[in-house]
Amino acid sequence: MEQKDKMAPKDTCFRQVMKTVYNAKPCGIELDRYSVAPMLEITNKYWRFFARLLTRRATLYTEMIHQDCVLNHKDGYLKVLDYEPCESKLVLQLGGNDPEKLARCAVLAEEMGYDEVNLNVGCPSSRVQDGQFGACLMASPERVAQCMHSMQQAV
Ligand SMILES: Cc1cc2nc3c(=O)[nH]c(=O)nc-3n(C[C@H](O)[C@H](O)[C@H](O)COP(=O)(O)O)c2cc1C
Repeated sequence: MEQKDKMAPKDTCFRQVMKTVYNAKPCGIELDRYSVAPMLEITNKYWRFFARLLTRRATLYTEMIHQDCVLNHKDGYLKVLDYEPCESKLVLQLGGNDPEKLARCAVLAEEMGYDEVNLNVGCPSSRVQDGQFGACLMASPERVAQCMHSMQQAV
């Protein structure tokens, strides 16, 4: 009984949040006005499924997935790009700097039904710097343009 009493405020708060989420009336806000940022080792498919229990009204991003991981994954691209239909609207974030490879990734993403493809030009980690992608690309705007052009031509 004592424990139940202790849990009550938390439970009530959680129930109120869920009620607000599910009872929210359409309010003219476009579905993609709010998004949850891509986060490595966080926004995986399990996290995104959980996020969808909270709201349908936000665009979700995958973690950044490297071009080679998409193209060379030993289990095939289906595994690494796998997601549940309920996760839409879902954006695939790619890491990489090779226009041709990124274009192939974009084609796979389109075939898999992703709503958008996004190129990471912001990750500053040292591992990413070694691979010359992510934030490094800010210093190579022409390369970014080539990558974007190549992806746009492909899908
Ligand atoms: C743990 C963690 C992982 C992240 N991974 C990525 C990533 O894979 N791709 C990316 O574009 N940004 C990544 N970011 C940056 C976030 O997407 C976001 O831009 C940053 O946290 C700033 O968010 P804010 O503007 O809401 O404060 C990551 C951030 C965190 C904290």
